[in-house]
Amino acid sequence: MKISVIGAGYVGLTTAGCLAQIGHDVFCSENDKDKLAKLQAGVMPLFEPHLEGIIASAKEAGRLTFGSTDEGIDRGKAIFICVGTPPLGNGDADLSAIEGIARVIAKRASGYRLVIEKSTVPVQTGAQLRKHLGVHSTNGLDCDVACNPEFLREGSGVEDFLHPDRIVVGVDSPRAATLLQEIYQPIIDQTFACPVHSDCPSRNTLRFLVTDTTSSELIKHASNSFLATKISFINMVADLCEAVGADVAKVAEGMGLDPRIGPAFLSPGLGFGGFCLPKDVQAFIRIAEKSGCDFSLLKEVERINQRRIEHFIEIVRRELWVLRGRKIAMLGLAFKPNTDDVRFAPAIAIAKLLLAEGVEVRAYDPEAMEKAKVLLPAITYCDNAYEAAEGADAVLLLTEWEEFRKMDWGRLATLVERPLIIDGRNALPLENVTRNGFEYVGIGGLSAPSRLEPAMIPV
Ligand SMILES: NC(=O)c1ccc[n+]([C@@H]2O[C@H](COP(=O)([O-])OP(=O)(O)OC[C@H]3O[C@@H](n4cnc5c(N)ncnc54)[C@H](O)[C@@H]3O)[C@@H](O)[C@H]2O)c1
Repeated sequence: MKISVIGAGYVGLTTAGCLAQIGHDVFCSENDKDKLAKLQAGVMPLFEPHLEGIIASAKEAGRLTFGSTDEGIDRGKAIFICVGTPPLGNGDADLSAIEGIARVIAKRASGYRLVIEKSTVPVQTGAQLRKHLGVHSTNGLDCDVACNPEFLREGSGVEDFLHPDRIVVGVDSPRAATLLQEIYQPIIDQTFACPVHSDCPSRNTLRFLVTDTTSSELIKHASNSFLATKISFINMVADLCEAVGADVAKVAEGMGLDPRIGPAFLSPGLGFGGFCLPKDVQAFIRIAEKSGCDFSLLKEVERINQRRIEHFIEIVRRELWVLRGRKIAMLGLAFKPNTDDVRFAPAIAIAKLLLAEGVEVRAYDPEAMEKAKVLLPAITYCDNAYEAAEGADAVLLLTEWEEFRKMDWGRLATLVERPLIIDGRNALPLENVTRNGFEYVGIGGLSAPSRLEPAMIPV
């Protein structure tokens, strides 16, 4: 099918690449001129595992082209809107990019279009979109509007897109449901050449869930808000563990063995960050408020999350006593491993607070340093973790990249001023770290040797 994807960010680029991979003829639009020039020249504007290869081969096979929004609107029978919906000052989602695209579709397009919200949007955005496409239509547009929320996780976006647990489509006509099923049929049947695995995991639990548009919109915001609630819950349990001398890793393990709870998102630490959970919780609170529902539970989830950064700084202060003039190594800047995304990353907030306290901050991240430099010009960026640790009074683990778990702790111990690790993600190999002479401080009163296994740490 001829498909257009509007917006070549983490979601749009993954959607475009994967839809081309499963056999569609895809046009991907981007209005940031630098980003578009890079994509047209074959340079990736972001890091997402496997995506570069998928995009390169789809371009070469002629199944993926990059260009302007106008061209995208002209070419696609199905148009996936994947632009950002960042938070406004009052917590509402900023829908101006979506509104702008709706106007252009209404004015340019003639004949049939299926307009699909893939961006995360507040409930009833579909109804507004449908109305405004009609109001501004000047060229004989005939359209359906659908909601197809995206559940991919940055860092495993390609895998999540091609092997999802569920595909949710919100439609208000049988025609839209049929087209969306046609688009996703190769994924539903798992009949595509997988660029990730030689032997794909079996996905006979995949559900293709069809709802009305409004319910699909709510599914996305409710899912992210629930995940955020789980994170804030375990973070409060971690504080309690710290206070009473229990081991949060054991508590989380014991809770997670209950299939009604499950182990995912039960890792205490620096709280949730990134471009999705913080803004989606805010937007959901606002949606509830505007609908007359008292969802103060989520306000508390947000408040707990905001306190995590200050809580972590308190731990650093408690361990170092005086912060001014200290040298601190930060391992990790991205909001999670396997991405270069630093939007709403806890590490960025922590670095800013440390700088304000007069700390000399030296940092290393395998992928996120270029993006971090824009937000944090005043710290020293290093080529690797060992360089960052030179002369440090403390080493902070802020993003649980696999390469940090595998570091040579003996070598690191020879480089630091004081062998102190503060593990904001409870992710480091405690025995190995302490065997090499480091003092280890985790979150939630952890004691050796109980740890959350890496497989239980959400990515
Ligand atoms: N990042 C995630 O992990 C994730 C997961 C699920 C859902 N979402 C949702 O998907 C949406 C996009 O998120 P993202 O992380 O990809 O954002 P992003 O900022 O990385 O990408 C958005 C892109 O759209 C482009 N754009 C804006 N207006 C445009 C226009 N008129 N024409 C063409 N391009 C335009 C921007 O330049 C940018 O490159 C958001 O609503 C987000 O909440 C994100």
